[in-house]
Amino acid sequence: MITQTECLVLDAADTLADRRSRFDLPPDTIYLDGNSLGAMPANVPGRIKQTLEQEWARGLIRSWNDANWYPAPQRTGNKIATLTGAEQGEIIVADSTSVNLFKVLVAAKRMRAGRRVILAEKTNFPTNVYIATSVAQLTNSELRCVDPDEVLATIDENTAVVSLTHVNYRTGKRYDMEAITRRAHEVGALIVWDLCHSVGAMPIHLNRSQVDFAVGCGYKYLNGGPGAPSFVFVARRHLDSVQQPLTGWHGHARPFDFTHEYVPHSGIERMLTGTAPQIGILTLEAALEVFDGIDLDVLRDKSVSLGNLFIELVDQELEGLGFSVISPRDAQERGSQVSLLHEQAHAITQALISRNVINGFRAPDVLRFGLAPLYVRHIDVWNTITALREITETRAWDSDAFKIRKAVS
Ligand SMILES: Cc1ncc(COP(=O)(O)O)c(C=O)c1O
Repeated sequence: MITQTECLVLDAADTLADRRSRFDLPPDTIYLDGNSLGAMPANVPGRIKQTLEQEWARGLIRSWNDANWYPAPQRTGNKIATLTGAEQGEIIVADSTSVNLFKVLVAAKRMRAGRRVILAEKTNFPTNVYIATSVAQLTNSELRCVDPDEVLATIDENTAVVSLTHVNYRTGKRYDMEAITRRAHEVGALIVWDLCHSVGAMPIHLNRSQVDFAVGCGYKYLNGGPGAPSFVFVARRHLDSVQQPLTGWHGHARPFDFTHEYVPHSGIERMLTGTAPQIGILTLEAALEVFDGIDLDVLRDKSVSLGNLFIELVDQELEGLGFSVISPRDAQERGSQVSLLHEQAHAITQALISRNVINGFRAPDVLRFGLAPLYVRHIDVWNTITALREITETRAWDSDAFKIRKAVS
């Protein structure tokens, strides 16, 4: 039997515990939706106040140079490189994940023009499927989506590009990045990884795994704020030859020459398109300071500890209440979230939120619990399970107020 005291003991031994105080979290709230929108690092408002009141209001257009706005996409990309096993100059921040995915899929497909298949999987986040469908149409390719367990066996000599998400948004299942990348390369295919649900929650080894391209999102575990810009990785060995399709002026070798002939930048800057969403990038850059000095293996250990505890407590406390765990029980195969299936998932999520336990719902029947290791505690897991038991035992979820679907879930 796991007890509440044991959870407190785990928190007392947590070497990352002090990081929580670097976030501006409401004191009476348990926040388990950081895999959708990360919590706000407390240093962000000060940075943005300076951006607005000094750099924009006083500096005006001079701030592109004087406040160093212009190189912010590169600077922020370099910070993300340290979290993902990339080199400096291999990652840049720009646009949304969907847009960056479009760029790298087209670029990768162009590099394997003689092959027809873009290989993806059936349970991916919808935007990945929508974008890959368009790319297949535009490049006269075939998009083949297979079951997640069939990916490895399906990669063959017809495969131009394999496009996968490292950690699945619904189940939290994690792919073996190194093994799949190796298999893709064995047959001469390229690989694109979507890191939305892994970056900032675990070590990622892009170069050690020989990854070709990657994209990822700034607003989940990187805590860059609502709609934060995304990032894109291109392995240095491809930087000379990669041709992305959205050839805007910021990807040009000399944007301020204003010539009509497009000459791509020689570096990662060629993945840029238009003017950076500067306030969003500066927010993300400031938010990333919470990772300074963090050992990503320690971060991962904490995430695994939270996930294991969550699953053990579901087994111990919620038996017979209609829940089943759909995330892998083996931590090796799991990201930093635990997902439960329940036929009243939506109403239960709303009932939890009414008790200031904020988690996520994914239609039709999934409750997601994001375990952002920088600020979630073991006692939060204990209290969440207690709330889940009360809500289901007493049928507190069975109220009209909890059945209304809002625009965003
Ligand atoms: C795996 C995955 N890819 C892509 C996206 C979409 O990102 P964006 O809205 O930045 O295009 C999401 C959003 O949650 C996601 O979970």
